[in-house]
Amino acid sequence: MSEIRVFEPKDYPAVKRLFIDGIMENVTPAFKEALLHPVNLAVLAGIAALTYALPGHLRWLGFVVATAWIAAVYWCCHMFYAIYVNDKLASEMKDIEKHFLSLPGNCYWVAEHKKLKVIGGMVAVKSCAGASKKEMGDEGPRQNNMFRMIVDRQYRRHGLGVRLTQTVLDFAQEHEYKTCILGTSKAQKAAQKLYLKVGFQLIKTYTPDIKRFISWKCIFSFHFNSFPFCCFFFFFE
Ligand SMILES: CC(C)(COP(=O)(O)OP(=O)(O)OC[C@H]1O[C@@H](n2cnc3c(N)ncnc32)[C@H](O)[C@@H]1OP(=O)(O)O)[C@@H](O)C(=O)NCCC(=O)NCCS
Repeated sequence: MSEIRVFEPKDYPAVKRLFIDGIMENVTPAFKEALLHPVNLAVLAGIAALTYALPGHLRWLGFVVATAWIAAVYWCCHMFYAIYVNDKLASEMKDIEKHFLSLPGNCYWVAEHKKLKVIGGMVAVKSCAGASKKEMGDEGPRQNNMFRMIVDRQYRRHGLGVRLTQTVLDFAQEHEYKTCILGTSKAQKAAQKLYLKVGFQLIKTYTPDIKRFISWKCIFSFHFNSFPFCCFFFFFE
C-alpha cells in the first residue's frame, strides 16, 4: 500500500526516473499509431507502387526506402518524446518546489510505498490562471490542469492511478476550482480509460499542427458541482 504525499526534495531522483520512463514508454504506442496514420499508409503505398514499377533487379531499392522510412517514423516518435523530456527536465522539472509548491493552486504529489519507501507514482496540478482563453477555455482562473500522472509499471492496476487522480480532484475542490482539465495523446489508452472511469469526460480530440503526424491529443475535463453533497457532475457539452 502506498501513501500519497506532497513532493519532498529527497524524492527528486526517483521522480526524475519515473518521469523519463513514463514519458519514453509512449514512444512505441505512438509509433504504432503513426504506422496506421493515413499519411504513413499513403507514403508506404507510394513506395510499394514505385517498387512495383522498378525493373526486377532494382526492386530491393523499394524495400530499403520503405525500411528507411519506417525507421525515420520511429526516430521522429522517439525524438518527439526525448525533446519533451529534455525540455521539461531543464525547466519546470528542474525545480519542482519553485514551480509547483510555492504557488497556491499548484501542487506535486508522490505515492510512496509504506514499507519499501519506494516512489511508485506521481501526479501534478497547475492552475490555469494566466493561461489564454484560447488555450484553456472559458473557465480561466477557476480551472486547473492535471498532468505528470505516472505510475511505475510494477505498481500498476492496483488503483494507484485512481487514488492519485482523486487526490488532484480533492485538492482542486478545496481550492474552489470549477473544472479540472488534462490532455493526453491518442496512444495513451490506459490513461484514457482511467480518466473516464474517474469521471472525466472527453471534450475534444484534435491534432496539433507540429504533432500532426504522431499524435492526436485528447482533452478531458472534470466539472465539480457547486453543491458539495450532490453526487453528479456538470460536464462540458
Ligand atoms: C495510466 C496509468 C497512470 C494508470 O495507472 P494505474 O495505477 O495502473 O491505474 P489504476 O490501477 O488506478 O486503474 C484505473 C483504471 O484505469 C484503466 N486502466 C489502467 N491501466 C489500464 C490498462 N493497461 N489497460 C486498460 N485499462 C487500464 C482501467 O479502467 C482501470 O480500472 P480497472 O482496474 O477497474 O479496470 C499508468 O498506466 C501509467 O503510468 N501509464 C504511463 C504514463 C501515462 O500514460 N500517463 C498518463 C499521462 S496523461
